[in-house]
Amino acid sequence: MSDTFKIDFATPALPETGDLVVCVRDDLALGALASGILGEAAGVVAKAAGAERFKGRIRSVIKVPAPAGLAVDRLVIVGLGGEKDVKDFDWVSLGGVIAAAIAGREATLIAEFPGLDANVDRIADLTLGARLRAYRFDRYKTKRKGDENGDKDDKQDEKGGRLTIALPEPQAVKKAAKRREGLAEGVILARDLVNEPANTLGPVEFADHAAALEKLGVEVEILDEKRLAKIGMRALLGVAQGSERPARVAIMRWNGGKKGDKPLAFLGKGVVFDTGGISIKPSGSMEDMKGDMAGAACVVGLMHALAARKAKANVVGMIGLVENMPDGRAQRPGDIVETLSGQTVEIINTDAEGRLVLADLLTYAQKEYEPRFMVNLATLTGAVLVALGVEHAGLFSNDDELAARIASAGEATGEKVWRMPLGKAYDKLIDSKFADMKNTGGRHAGAITAAQFLQRFVVDTPWVHLDVAGTAMASPSTDVNRSWGSGYGVRLLDRLVADHYET
Ligand code: BES
Ligand code: MN
Ligand code: ZN
Repeated sequence: MSDTFKIDFATPALPETGDLVVCVRDDLALGALASGILGEAAGVVAKAAGAERFKGRIRSVIKVPAPAGLAVDRLVIVGLGGEKDVKDFDWVSLGGVIAAAIAGREATLIAEFPGLDANVDRIADLTLGARLRAYRFDRYKTKRKGDENGDKDDKQDEKGGRLTIALPEPQAVKKAAKRREGLAEGVILARDLVNEPANTLGPVEFADHAAALEKLGVEVEILDEKRLAKIGMRALLGVAQGSERPARVAIMRWNGGKKGDKPLAFLGKGVVFDTGGISIKPSGSMEDMKGDMAGAACVVGLMHALAARKAKANVVGMIGLVENMPDGRAQRPGDIVETLSGQTVEIINTDAEGRLVLADLLTYAQKEYEPRFMVNLATLTGAVLVALGVEHAGLFSNDDELAARIASAGEATGEKVWRMPLGKAYDKLIDSKFADMKNTGGRHAGAITAAQFLQRFVVDTPWVHLDVAGTAMASPSTDVNRSWGSGYGVRLLDRLVADHYET
């Protein structure tokens, strides 16, 4: 992100340049501030609305040339909807709609929202949405959109731009927006990592991104292959052994809570590329498997967000970084590995690798940190896409309270989860003839048997597994995201921590 999107604050006055953005509900009436600033030109709103059939519906926007007498370039009118939209009004989305409307330009938003109960936090939420919408991943585009030979089908918005938010007392909002800025950076960091291709983002490079959090006061430890072998993370190393590129585990600690308080643990699957290994995947869409580290990307983005806003909690983030490749040294179907926990696993399919990486992380987290809870995130199964599509991440848990807290954080942020079952009958499906368990459970209930596998490595810690294969990559367009990698989970888990675990 070079020419980034900027947000600043000012007291209301008629701007001299750029666009002027005003919001109206479905009666098209301007608020007192906006009509004061527009003066005689205020009538243009009703006129333009008539001409453009603009009804002030929620998410609708019209852009009109500035009326005579105003120095600004354009007037942008944003609809807030009507009474029926008030209850679930989403301020983050509104920010996204506004950022899209100004599309890389400079604009002043009159922070007045007729019919809605705006406050400091809500306007700050708007800034979060605007920042997220303005993101695009174009590091590898050598031609700008619209250039000759440039990609004119690019569905992303223009990049960059500046939004000045005008309101009578900007200071408090400015402070609240600053806290959201760290969160936006965390989401954007996660998106960048997911979007980055695997040729430039191997386990070592990924670990460097984790290490870069030290500048925010995060303690970072990188475990190399030698250390991992000494510790005994043989399941994780087994996945990595077919790759030229060595495995890493990165451990990130943010100690913002009381000394001695047990940490919250967040663990992420970081398969920088998943070919399937010897059980190789079909080539169609295999390029998507550069995103198989989205769980790890979320953990790094989350640690960034928590540290940037100095969250009052002790948190440990742990990510397992490997590349799953077929090779003369690669793990085979039929191999039996002894995990760090001491339990043995028969490898049936080398493409069920994420659970092997996470198994050792789960064991290590419990032994080393005795966490208050563990949440792991992984693009673990195609089966979760079959079950839930791209709307919800699959949630599996041994703890009703933690599961419910994450579900409500999902409702609040729009990063939704859906709880799925665990149980003895499913667990039986991964019993092995030759070892304690096997790494696949057959054709049925693939997302659940993967979760059962992980649960065999949870001793008695409250635990949640989020299967984010449908939500973290190849993401649908929303008001706040146009990127392939969504950064899913950063806002969800930041919210979980903020709502329940800060002292
Ligand atoms: N990384 C994949 C899961 C995946 C699929 C993520 C599609 C995102 C989109 C995972 O490692 C995998 O290959 N899972 C297998 C498991 C199977 C072999 C039991 C799957 O889902 O097919
Ligand atoms: Mn796989
Ligand atoms: Zn995978």
